[in-house]
Amino acid sequence: MIKKCLFPAAGYGTRFLPATKAMPKEMLPILTKPLIQYGVEEAKDAGCDIMAIVTGRGKRAIEDHFDISYELEYQIKGTSKEDLLHQIRELIDNCTFTYTRQKEMKGLGDAIYKGKALLGEDSAFAVILADDLCVNPKGDGILKQMVQVFEKYKCSVIAIMEVDESDTNKYGIISGQEIEENIFRVTDMVEKPEVSKAPTNLAIIGRYILTPDIFDIIKYTKPGKNGEVQITDALLTQAKEGRVIAYKFDGLRFDCGNVDGFVEATNYFYKQIK
Ligand code: G1P
Repeated sequence: MIKKCLFPAAGYGTRFLPATKAMPKEMLPILTKPLIQYGVEEAKDAGCDIMAIVTGRGKRAIEDHFDISYELEYQIKGTSKEDLLHQIRELIDNCTFTYTRQKEMKGLGDAIYKGKALLGEDSAFAVILADDLCVNPKGDGILKQMVQVFEKYKCSVIAIMEVDESDTNKYGIISGQEIEENIFRVTDMVEKPEVSKAPTNLAIIGRYILTPDIFDIIKYTKPGKNGEVQITDALLTQAKEGRVIAYKFDGLRFDCGNVDGFVEATNYFYKQIK
């Protein structure tokens, strides 16, 4: 079972300035729910009850969101508005939230390494990048599907999807052998390759299940693309030993790290309630 989920949430969200000047990008709402809450709900639905969040300066609103607001609850008690807090109360009551700060932006690999203090090294854990909003209208959530893959292969699992060839320089790109429908044993992976050098168009999406030896590997992984410690490079060490599975998931993914994807997600969720 995967019980713990890590949320790297230290980034500045510069694409959304000025909205993110004083507010964490993870708190930007799609309709009435902040992005990170969608991620936490997906993790809970997959069986996780420990949410470990790597934050940074100016991110306190995330901690307040996953806590009781007595004054507010007192004010709306007995009114129809009480229902609006139902979903978040359920998360607060059933999950434990822990936090640490990444003091300098040194890359996703480094942010995940900071989570070691919260997660320990005893068991595999999930990672969700809240910017990548994933939903499966037809069934199990994306992380829940990945947990099933992990239970079979017992090694690191990463979510992938096909992207336009011209977009391969925006993602970690994998190549591998398809060993079952939609399941690949990864043989190579590269962080944001030049379009002409991308080995495939299979892109890594912000959902990972990592075995805990990844922490030691990250420790010895040198800074890569953009001078940052990349989780893609650390995973390549496991992949060379045949210990990374890439899973082409069922469902939709919205890139809420940019304005176009954010608007698409908003329109999608708005249609669901109309
Ligand atoms: C990160 C990863 C990249 C992955 C992407 C998915 O990049 O480094 O491998 O494809 O998330 O969203 P970022 O988008 O944070 O630059």
